[in-house]
Amino acid sequence: MTQDELKDAVAAAAIAEIESRLERDTILGIGTGSTANLFIDRLARLRHHFQGAVASSEASAERLRGHGIEVFELNSVGTVPFYIDGADEVNAHLHMIKGGGAALTREKIVAACAERFICIADGSKKVERLGAFPLPVEVIPMARSYVARELVKLGADPVYREGVVTDNGNQIIDCYDFMIDDPVAMEARLNAIVGVVTNGLFAARGADVLLLGTERGVERLT
Ligand code: 5RP
Repeated sequence: MTQDELKDAVAAAAIAEIESRLERDTILGIGTGSTANLFIDRLARLRHHFQGAVASSEASAERLRGHGIEVFELNSVGTVPFYIDGADEVNAHLHMIKGGGAALTREKIVAACAERFICIADGSKKVERLGAFPLPVEVIPMARSYVARELVKLGADPVYREGVVTDNGNQIIDCYDFMIDDPVAMEARLNAIVGVVTNGLFAARGADVLLLGTERGVERLT
């Protein structure tokens, strides 16, 4: 199977996971990226079975609206029963690196408001140790150089993601050569750097369920 077929298989599995739990007033949290897009496309046929969605990016909001799914502001919703999103890396504890698509801050906010985080990923995303994928850090633009120097002190090789402005008007630094032994501690440490908005470690609030697409089928890990 191709990577795209594996992504679509986990998108289908996520639909199966939530379908029977949808109610007329259900508002779902929806992530960002190619796997989330496949999920959105599959969700379209169920649009009359739930109320709408909160999106973690302008791109996902636009895709949802394109399918006739109403998009709500998170502030008017409170909590969502499910947040469904992809990942760049995920470990056995369901800690993740996210933000390859630069949507990490909104993703983390919607995930924080979710009762259950369902991570959907093809098998290539499963790792023993997080960090081979460069860890994204969203920064306030004027703090970029300062934050980069602080990241060097922590052992990372920070690279400015040129030309990218997040939905929040900020910039992204990607941390290369930064293997992470303690994702929970590192997430907190990075967030304590002045000028950091969010980092792409999702460990303090990891996923509750991982649907992983493999050649043997979709594996469900909790
Ligand atoms: C976007 C993300 C995505 O979830 C992550 O990059 C995975 O993307 P894809 O499903 O395209 O592999 O965190 O900010």
